[in-house]
Amino acid sequence: MTAPINGRHYLAGQWHAAAGETFASTNPARLSEAIGVFPLGTKANADEAVAAARRVFPSWRRRSRILRAELFDNLAQIVKCETDKLAQLMARESGKVITECRAEVVEGLHMIQYVFGTGRMPMGDVLSSEIAEKDAFMRRKPWGVAAVITPWNFPFAVPLWMLGPSLVEGNTVVFKPSEDTPAIGQRIVELFEEAGFPPGVINLVHGEAQAGEALVRNTGVNCVLFTGSYEVGKHIAEISASIADRIVASETGSKSAVIVCEDAKLDLAVTSGLISAFKTSGQRCVSAGRILVHEKLLNAYAEKLVAVTRRLRIGDPLDSNNFTGPLINKSAVEKVERYNALAKEEGAEVLLQGGRMIERQYADGCFLSPHIYRIKHGPKTRCIREEVFGPHLALIPFKDNEEAARIYNDTEYGLSLAVITENYRTMRWFRDECDYGMGYVNLPCIGAEVHLPFGGVKKSGNGHPSAAGLIEAVTHKTAWTVNHAEEVKMAQGLTTEVR
Ligand code: UN1
Repeated sequence: MTAPINGRHYLAGQWHAAAGETFASTNPARLSEAIGVFPLGTKANADEAVAAARRVFPSWRRRSRILRAELFDNLAQIVKCETDKLAQLMARESGKVITECRAEVVEGLHMIQYVFGTGRMPMGDVLSSEIAEKDAFMRRKPWGVAAVITPWNFPFAVPLWMLGPSLVEGNTVVFKPSEDTPAIGQRIVELFEEAGFPPGVINLVHGEAQAGEALVRNTGVNCVLFTGSYEVGKHIAEISASIADRIVASETGSKSAVIVCEDAKLDLAVTSGLISAFKTSGQRCVSAGRILVHEKLLNAYAEKLVAVTRRLRIGDPLDSNNFTGPLINKSAVEKVERYNALAKEEGAEVLLQGGRMIERQYADGCFLSPHIYRIKHGPKTRCIREEVFGPHLALIPFKDNEEAARIYNDTEYGLSLAVITENYRTMRWFRDECDYGMGYVNLPCIGAEVHLPFGGVKKSGNGHPSAAGLIEAVTHKTAWTVNHAEEVKMAQGLTTEVR
């Protein structure tokens, strides 16, 4: 067994061991196995981290953009060598299966490579002017200090989606990883240090709500970059509304869906549905909690999907033969169980009963088997509207494409959508009628790539997509106009005569 990690904050280039209260990180597959003990961040720690980031912002901003970007090339080399170790740590701490953890490290690496590439890309536009002698530019400038507050379910890729764009654009950051995955969060910062990022450019504060709240309330933070629940995102937006010079980019929950049309290829539809619903045990923000199936296909679809799901291997995340591991913690298990019961009360016909897995090899972990049910769409049915974040799946029949789009849109969220069809008119209908940030055709509704914008609408996001899309949020656009004439010349025919 690996020795437990000593958690430390990283402030102004110095590692600080716990001086006060601590919290533990454990393996969700074996709760008796400790991953590490971490300092519980306080307001004082958060404030110190922001002050450190503020102090180095001017020198970091002044550094050549290409030199900032080249540090990401160093980071890419290190991550390539560390892929297996990072994936192992992630599997032990998050409970995600090792194959998914490796893919996530690769996703983080892709973001690092993308960010390195942007160092030599344009950072604005050259624009025309009414006055021939004037040169006009749109130039992007960094905001200042970014607070990066990230979830446990993508503990490597999502932080990099935010850290990469923020830092390459010249911001400095304070990073608060999820309290469920502090070890992988700390490892990320160690890798940045190894790659040569100067002290104070990236700061780490571990902790729970208290540290997060202190960061968000600190007026020295110019951008809050957040992925997590809608309730927390709303709280951040409310606090931030009263702070001048503050932008929030948040991605907050979903009730994503796959729509299986009348002409769908059945096997493709089953694979897409299964991956959308059950990869990561349904704990992606893009996971499908709903599969809308044309009524003529529903029986055949349900039969195949249930048969394949029954055979899924669930178990130790370090065993690459397993399809999924446990949920993140006991309260996640309890939440899914409550929704399984609620679905029954709301009229679900259960096709595959999910529940706690209590056999010996599962007894010490948070293992839960998938739950699949069939239910009619209803205007008040909560189990098909609210985010469950676990292996809980509703199959909902529809009559025609118009009804399917109506059902799809009938939640407060709008993150990810997949349409399974062979018909280009059908595809276009859903593309234009549905509310989403990421749309897929003949694919699962998960699996976005980093150079695409990642975000949603309604309660899913506030219009600042993450990953490559975040470059817009972590910079502000400036107009820069230079006159080359010997005298002052104004646009709009404005006179320069001084009387
Ligand atoms: C998340 O679900 O929080 O699109 C992120 C995907 C991954 C990222 C998911 N690339 O499924």
